[in-house]
Amino acid sequence: MPLAARIQNATLHAKVMTAEQAAELIPVGANVGMSGFTGAGYPKAVPQALAARLAALHAAGQTDARIGLWTGASTAPELDGALAQARGIEMRLPYQSDPTCRKLINAGQMLYTDMHLSHVAQAAWFGFLGKLDVAVVEVVGILPDGRLIPSTSVGNNKTWLDQADKIILEVNLHQNPALEGMHDIYEGTHLPPHRLPIPLVRASDRIGSPYLKCDPTKVIAVVVTDQPDRNSAFDAPSEVSAKIAAHILDFLTHEVKAGRLPKALLPLQSGVGNTANAVLAGISQGPFENLTAYTEVLQDGMLEMLRSGKLAFASATALSLSPEASAEFNGNIDFYRQRILLRPQEISNHPELVRRLGVIAMNAMIEADLYGNVNSTHIMGSSIMNGIGGSGDFARNAYLSFFMSPSVAKGGKISCIVPMVSHHDHTEHDVQVIVTEQGLADLRGLAPTQRARQIVARCAHPSFRPQLLDYMERAWQSGAGKHTPHLLDESLSWHSRYLKTGKM
Ligand code: COA
Repeated sequence: MPLAARIQNATLHAKVMTAEQAAELIPVGANVGMSGFTGAGYPKAVPQALAARLAALHAAGQTDARIGLWTGASTAPELDGALAQARGIEMRLPYQSDPTCRKLINAGQMLYTDMHLSHVAQAAWFGFLGKLDVAVVEVVGILPDGRLIPSTSVGNNKTWLDQADKIILEVNLHQNPALEGMHDIYEGTHLPPHRLPIPLVRASDRIGSPYLKCDPTKVIAVVVTDQPDRNSAFDAPSEVSAKIAAHILDFLTHEVKAGRLPKALLPLQSGVGNTANAVLAGISQGPFENLTAYTEVLQDGMLEMLRSGKLAFASATALSLSPEASAEFNGNIDFYRQRILLRPQEISNHPELVRRLGVIAMNAMIEADLYGNVNSTHIMGSSIMNGIGGSGDFARNAYLSFFMSPSVAKGGKISCIVPMVSHHDHTEHDVQVIVTEQGLADLRGLAPTQRARQIVARCAHPSFRPQLLDYMERAWQSGAGKHTPHLLDESLSWHSRYLKTGKM
């Protein structure tokens, strides 16, 4: 497809320049809102050119040559990786999973604000995050009137385009032009006290336009790229994740029999990572038909379910597909366009909609404690892994909220069921079901001590059960309150024991 067909607006066509020229237009110290959600739809060239420029400034002695980097969620090596390696990020928000970012954040060399993903756009509108100076957004194409065909993720692009003083567009020729029509950009989000109900009652409802709007006078550069997204392949489902999936499948089947779920279930949300992907593979083997998804990322598992017909429709904000699944998607995009809508993340993750639709939320965790509190983000209480992402948006408001992980980590040296989580992301009030390969604890309607017995009996690894039972017994006998018994001087000693001896 010729460039003129991708950039149909003459004024914007005249602004085509190289990534290096565009990067020169981003002031040092600026807050920059970039597209990207998982390794999808992120700008591929300008961040790398900016990283090279910032690195050169560092080499010349300008050690404060950094930007504030706002995105949809995690991105890819060409964006987070390149800017982090150039020591070019002062403040990063809202979610990252890049190894260099993680290292710098945990070394105290990069600031990081980890936010619920549905909150980011409104926080920007409220003015809570400061001024957004520049937006750098990947698009598939530009229409004659300047409207934009969004790419493989929507994320916070609408807000970045609306809020930034200046805009740089990356038109990625590699992205399939047939993505046009797969997006739903809702324009009706007002600020309090003028907010109105969001008119979405089914995962498949279209409530907006397929295009992003953009004020052409704010566009300072258009850069043409031709590169694929960079999502890594998923591991084949392990024995552990297959067992977790089987427990969830049994539970959902039981809930249907008990009349607490319809036969087609309720819209599914599935978190990030291998376990979440494997659980979908498990559900796709189950007896359910005509499923729907109201989720944040559409991973390989869901694509497979769409293809097999198990899943009738999926609403998300990003496609997070391995190269193989991406090829399948692009080869059959007309089929998928009938079955997928990509929305801004403030809508894909909106608490009002998650609650209304009755979403079944399934997210991975790092650890859970006896009472059902969950840590999704921190290793040993102080080192960030990735971030909370959308897990809180969904868990807090879901019809059913699952958290899952293997019962042990690091070859069995760490128990993922602990007396007290070393960091709280989801409190006992937002967690209904905990699942490990050992089993599933249904915490609905249980008091804290009942929850503890369920979690230890069903989810803890047998090698850690005696220690957990001993802790529970001593906490009960200790004279401390018997509602949520704890030995406060001992509750986190599991983590410090691991840090000192290498075994909990
Ligand atoms: N203590 C210490 N380390 C632990 C641990 C524990 N209790 N549990 C897991 N880990 C380590 C693993 O060993 C692994 O380390 P490695 O990368 O050095 O091998 C790492 O954490 C990831 O664990 P893994 O089992 O591979 O998990 P995953 O790919 O299923 O991801 C989360 C799990 C929790 C990290 C991931 O789901 C996440 O970031 N969640 C938060 C955001 C979210 O839920 N988003 C979804 C909303 S739509």
